[in-house]
Amino acid sequence: MSAIQTTVVLAMTADGKISAVDPKAPRDSDVADQAHLEYQVSLADLVLVGAGTIRAEGSTFTIRNPELLAARKVRNQPPQPITCVVSGSLDLSLDLPFLSQDIERWIFTTRTGLKRNSDATTLQKLAELIDLGDTDLDWDRAYTLMAERGIHKIVALGGGSLTASLVQAKRIDDWWLTIWPVIYGGKHAPTPVEGEGFVPNAAPHLQLVETRQVGSELFLHYRTLN
Ligand SMILES: NC(=O)c1ccc[n+]([C@@H]2O[C@H](COP(=O)([O-])OP(=O)(O)OC[C@H]3O[C@@H](n4cnc5c(N)ncnc54)[C@H](OP(=O)(O)O)[C@@H]3O)[C@@H](O)[C@H]2O)c1
Repeated sequence: MSAIQTTVVLAMTADGKISAVDPKAPRDSDVADQAHLEYQVSLADLVLVGAGTIRAEGSTFTIRNPELLAARKVRNQPPQPITCVVSGSLDLSLDLPFLSQDIERWIFTTRTGLKRNSDATTLQKLAELIDLGDTDLDWDRAYTLMAERGIHKIVALGGGSLTASLVQAKRIDDWWLTIWPVIYGGKHAPTPVEGEGFVPNAAPHLQLVETRQVGSELFLHYRTLN
């Protein structure tokens, strides 16, 4: 395990989907889950977000609650954590609202992405582009760099492909999973962990350390055991 703590925070339906088949389809706002997400993000020095999520959602989550902002100040943290988008391809539109949010922005990418993207020079002015490998992103290099820059606590906000990559790299210490009391279905709707999957006897096992219930919604906190 790394000295940096990495917590995954994801919400899924009771049938295990993190979004509907159409990720842009509107859904009702969820006060309890938003408050939970805001609290978890408020603990972070850096938030990791997959490029698929930023392409689908446009912007990153920011903290607004004055008490959480005050607590960050007491801890000598800036008002918002750094948001680091993970994008091997660097295929990110310059129109993304994320690129003009009032936050510190990093993008973990690859040399291939930097070479392929004709907008890389413009992107470089809007975010810090960090090259972490030729074609595959090297998480050991990423974690060394983050440790050198004083990052202690990472909150990984998904989606499923980024989470799979972090699981594969054995970087996840704990998980907060919200279970929304709804069924989305759809074999193409994303789930918390995508990727290639694990055979059961090599799968990461979890220990349930905390549960909360708000109405019909469940908040489950797990620790990774192996
Ligand atoms: N319910 C929730 O809590 C929740 C949370 C987050 C997201 N979501 C939903 O999840 C969906 C997106 O999930 P997703 O699985 O499709 O996408 P994702 O995990 O957000 O992003 C996948 C992309 O991230 C980049 N990436 C991830 N790991 C990488 C690695 N090791 N090396 C290089 N690049 C890497 C790649 O970007 P490039 O393609 O640029 O190379 C990859 O295509 C959206 O619908 C979103 O709304 C739901």
